[in-house]
Amino acid sequence: MKILVVHGPNLNLLGQREADIYGETTLEEINQRLNEKAKENGVTLETFQSNHEGEIVDEIGKSKENEIQAILINPAAYTHTSIAIRDALAAVSIPTVEIHLSNVYAREEFRHKSLISPVVHGQVCGFGVNSYMLGLDALIDLLKS
Ligand code: DQA
Repeated sequence: MKILVVHGPNLNLLGQREADIYGETTLEEINQRLNEKAKENGVTLETFQSNHEGEIVDEIGKSKENEIQAILINPAAYTHTSIAIRDALAAVSIPTVEIHLSNVYAREEFRHKSLISPVVHGQVCGFGVNSYMLGLDALIDLLKS
């Protein structure tokens, strides 16, 4: 089983970026924890971070050719703006879980709307790094069932 993990814009700055909201764990540490869980479950992970919408669209679009069976995505700010990423996910049509470190619904109103949610299997938000871990668990369960 192969799962693609996509981290959107500014998530490369985790650890130093608004730590009161996003915590002190770096992206490298998150990827390491995800890889450990994946390994325990016999799953291979491909992790990808970009600050550029088109690069994220390209990566999602290559899912079939890269034999990706599911996607775990934190689209970050593109959650609230990107029809292109939503369309890419709809196009590849494989099980996808959207995650957010923060509880976007308890924050500014512009974060309450996700353009991504309607095309994913489910969403996890508000649990910090655990949002990623819970999302990966959910995808592994989905793939096994
Ligand atoms: C985020 C929430 C988004 O609103 C924000 O733009 C981010 C991170 C989160 O993980 O909480 O960059 O996706």
